Amino acid sequence: MKKIRLDKYLADMGVDSRTGIRQRIRQGQAAVNGETVYKADFRVDVERDSVSLQGVPVPYEEFQYFMLNKPQGVVTATRDRREKTVLELLPALRRRDLSPVGRLDKDTEGLLLITNDGKLAHRLLSPKKHVKKEYFAVIDGHVGSADQQAFREGLDIGDEMPTLPAELFILEAGGISEVIVTIEEGRFHQIKRMFEALDKRVTYLKRISMGPLKLDETLKPGQYRRLAEEEQRALLELKNGKE
Ligand code: URA
Repeated sequence: MKKIRLDKYLADMGVDSRTGIRQRIRQGQAAVNGETVYKADFRVDVERDSVSLQGVPVPYEEFQYFMLNKPQGVVTATRDRREKTVLELLPALRRRDLSPVGRLDKDTEGLLLITNDGKLAHRLLSPKKHVKKEYFAVIDGHVGSADQQAFREGLDIGDEMPTLPAELFILEAGGISEVIVTIEEGRFHQIKRMFEALDKRVTYLKRISMGPLKLDETLKPGQYRRLAEEEQRALLELKNGKE
């Protein structure tokens, strides 16, 4: 049994600010199991009790999982003084403790998982777990088999260690090339730096998968949705798998 204060419960679920919530509880807007509760410190059993605010049920969700198709021009951060963040694209009614899993550059688009499930985030990002991330990229320049070989061998991108072997699949080779890159790490600007090491420039980058999670291509840049049950299940298998 997990019991928490009523005001914390409602704040965790993101219905209002803590102050707003206390006020609303005092005004008699909150109910637990159908009974109006006026005390913010009333203890709620998150597994058994049903809580509502102004008659609208507020179910407790320990973990929330959102898939965002990150658009260009927003930063992968929870807060930023100047720039718009990925969290600002999510609905107002959501848990307050959500964070993006990993970082996409401001000009990178595509799959971003946003959750408060810290253990899952850790598993997805841990270098030891070798979780594959796939990116679609447009490259200014011709990409060929020598580049594929260089990716397979791992590249010196100016870090202490060369990159781990990565896959480079060529969709279209020409003055402008289109490729799919699969990496198992998540270093800063990694894909861009890998191409730079080969004297080529990435002009467009979009993440299309992360472990078992694939970008839902029906989501336009800037759109999000909750993860479906099968998607959550696949991620939980990873989370609860062997170390
Ligand atoms: N590699 C990059 O260079 N940028 C990203 O946003 C992700 C991977």
